[in-house]
Parts: sequence; structure tokens; C-alpha cells
Amino acid sequence: MVDRCICSDILFSDVKSIGEERGYTGIEEFQEAEICAVHCELCRPYLEKMLETGQTRFSPGEAG
Ligand code: FES
Repeated sequence: MVDRCICSDILFSDVKSIGEERGYTGIEEFQEAEICAVHCELCRPYLEKMLETGQTRFSPGEAG
């Protein structure tokens, strides 16, 4: 199950809530705020899919 940014130790569901509160629409906004996807970026394709679909839990290899 892929459900978090491991490097920043944050669940995608929490990333999603923060994005909704702040009105973020792109991954760059999360990166600039240093919430997630600022290190290895392995989470990035999953976060992009989350932004598209609202999904927060994925099978390994499902995105990207
Ligand atoms: S898992 Fe998100 S930056 Fe590494």
C-alpha cells in the first residue's frame, strides 16, 4: 500500500486535507511549502494522481 510521502512522513490523506484548506492545485505548491515530494520524489506520481482523482491509497506501481 502506498499511502504516504515516506521522506516527509506524511499521509497522502493529510496532504490532501492541507491542499484543500490552502487551495493548492499543483504539486509545486506542496513542494514550495515543503509539505511533501521535496526529497526522493518517488511519491510524486502518486501525489499527482491524488490531485487528479482524490484517491489517497494506491497499489505499488499504480501511478507513475
Ligand atoms: S517519498 Fe516523498 S519525497 Fe521521498
